[in-house]
Amino acid sequence: MEQSLVIIKPSGVQRGLIGKIIDRFQQKGLIICGLKMMNLSEELLREHYAHLVEKPFFPTLLKSMMATPVVVICLKGVDAVAVVRGMVGTTNARNAAPGTIRGDYGMSSQENIVHASDSPENGVIETKRFFKPEEIFDYTPVCINFIYAPDELN
Ligand code: TYD
Repeated sequence: MEQSLVIIKPSGVQRGLIGKIIDRFQQKGLIICGLKMMNLSEELLREHYAHLVEKPFFPTLLKSMMATPVVVICLKGVDAVAVVRGMVGTTNARNAAPGTIRGDYGMSSQENIVHASDSPENGVIETKRFFKPEEIFDYTPVCINFIYAPDELN
């Protein structure tokens, strides 16, 4: 199964959306295998957003991501990365489709409530970036056979 790293950003924490966002992923059938609150350092964010450090908005992105603690979540599932990105919606929350997290809760590109890994490779890299190995729990929910058909689990 794939892993996806989700961050409930300060915009989601401040807006009181932690529970609603976690609930959406659980109701979908994604497995929560890591969950914690943490402060993000500039060093960690420079690594995480390395593709954006030259962008004009990077200083405000840094400030925004360090404004309050965030909640980081590792989600597991078949095709979890694409499923989670679909649930999150497009970067600019004003354009994100209704029914997505950004589409339902956001009005901004920067204050767009959540981060989600954009490829299976990054799901693994980002999970390792934000969680220690002992903070990831590899368990199987007892209802797994009611989430997937047997051939989907191979
Ligand atoms: P990016 O990786 O392009 O998007 P996504 O989060 O959808 O994978 O950008 C990372 C974050 O940078 C984005 O969530 C919010 C911020 N950002 C801005 O503030 N302004 C922008 O114009 C863009 C493209 C991103």
